[in-house]
Amino acid sequence: MAMQQTIEAYRHPFTTGTEVKRMLINGEWVRAASGKSFESRNPATGDLLANVAEGDKEDIDRAVNAARAAFEGPWSKCKPYERQALLLKIAELVEKHYEELSLLDTLDMGAPVARTRGTKQRVIGMLRWYAGMATSIHGETINNSLPGDIFSYTLKEPIGVVGAIIPWNGPLGACIWKIGPALATGCTVVLKPAEEAPLTPLRLGEILMDAGVPPGVVNIVPGYGETAGAALAEHPGVDKVAFTGSHFTGQSIVRASAGNLKRVSLELGGKSPDIVFADADLETAVPGAGMAVFANSGQICSAGTRLFVERKVYDEFTTRVADFGKSLKVGNGLDPDTQIGPLVSEQQYERVTGYLSTGRQEGARPLTGGEALTEGAFGKGYFIPPTVFADVQDTMRIAQEEIFGPVISAIPFTDIEEVITRGNATTFGLGSGVWTRDVSKAHRLAKGLRAGSVWINCYQAMDPAVPFGGYKMSGYGRESGIQQMEEYLNVKAVWIKTA
Ligand code: NAI
Ligand code: MG
Repeated sequence: MAMQQTIEAYRHPFTTGTEVKRMLINGEWVRAASGKSFESRNPATGDLLANVAEGDKEDIDRAVNAARAAFEGPWSKCKPYERQALLLKIAELVEKHYEELSLLDTLDMGAPVARTRGTKQRVIGMLRWYAGMATSIHGETINNSLPGDIFSYTLKEPIGVVGAIIPWNGPLGACIWKIGPALATGCTVVLKPAEEAPLTPLRLGEILMDAGVPPGVVNIVPGYGETAGAALAEHPGVDKVAFTGSHFTGQSIVRASAGNLKRVSLELGGKSPDIVFADADLETAVPGAGMAVFANSGQICSAGTRLFVERKVYDEFTTRVADFGKSLKVGNGLDPDTQIGPLVSEQQYERVTGYLSTGRQEGARPLTGGEALTEGAFGKGYFIPPTVFADVQDTMRIAQEEIFGPVISAIPFTDIEEVITRGNATTFGLGSGVWTRDVSKAHRLAKGLRAGSVWINCYQAMDPAVPFGGYKMSGYGRESGIQQMEEYLNVKAVWIKTA
């Protein structure tokens, strides 16, 4: 109870005060041109956290102009060493303020502090890795076969102004995943945070200014997708859009990009298969497959939501995963013991509860969960317990569509070729998991699954050096790895006749 009171009374330094949180354009904190603002609320309690300046077309236009001027100004003369030093300074400041940033993510989008604190090494590691990349970009000398003496080589050049559109499911990490590569390659950025969780991006903006990011190099314009997001996606002054979010929005971004044929990279949704063989170490596969979906309340693009289990262990395994789900502590993310926080918003809550009833109507059987939590303090937030549906058929909507909630659809299978085919029978191709002790099965699955990542005897492992991205409708382009650098660079071929 004492804990409960402390949590309810908790006020974060960034959410105290009544001033509208301003947007960052050209190194200045400014109001929206329209004067409008919108509310950001805590999804665990419904409490108002802050009013935020609501950017629109005009603000995006100013931000893009600032980013263009910065790109063509002194920033373009910055040496790799200076961009590296800047990224290292940002890493140092983000590390110094990590506790504050992780609490702000928790307040604004609900993830448990155990999770937001737990991403520290990954987030700071990303910044340091991008710092390393800043001094590693290089073209090639290429032998050509032309007669005479003509020498050819390539230059790698920053693509220009990047429009970064991010979702709400991990705001701090999402910002760094887009701003980091832009700074490493010498691009400039206009970042549009998700309307559900704009606060950490704005606080990060203050840290970027403290670190010495020059005016206009990073601009942050909060606002709605249909207005600010769409204006950024179609802006003729933007050279590339880096987007993470739903495949529907991804499609509209591709359409919006046609006006100036800007480059686009898309990290979209998934319906990833997670495949458990009877020969797996079930002791680790149970929590592994459970957290592959329950982590972040299922609000992870690569969640392993189609759980294929070999028939001879299907009943045992699904029961154990359900028991594991039941054992997880659901609650306010500020409680350090909480393992499963609320969903981010009413919209997401409606969507997920809708799928819970769809699943039951389609004949799937909830082994645990299946209904929203509404008693007591749960009634004020958007709480859905870990849910395991058994008796799921491949054709059910809960086996085909991305739910983005803590919901497992468990499906039995009998043989390896069959599960490869059925695992691939989705329009998506982001993540996939395999649990087996048999090394040949593991390699066959690694080759057979049409997905950007295959996790074997683990799930959701991520590293700044290892590329992440989608096949099929999970998008194109890669984040992390040297592949991500290429997304922010142009290649120029240079020919010199030396004779
Ligand atoms: P969304 O794709 O609509 O939103 C993501 C970002 O795109 C936000 O910043 C939003 O403001 C912006 N946006 C929305 N419409 C836009 C437009 N027309 N032009 C430019 N930008 C636009 O996703 P939303 O509505 O938050 O969630 C809906 C579903 O999408 C979820 O239930 C989930 O299935 C999926 N999703 C997938 C994510 C992923 O990491 N791949 C992240 C968030 C959602
Ligand atoms: Mg939306």
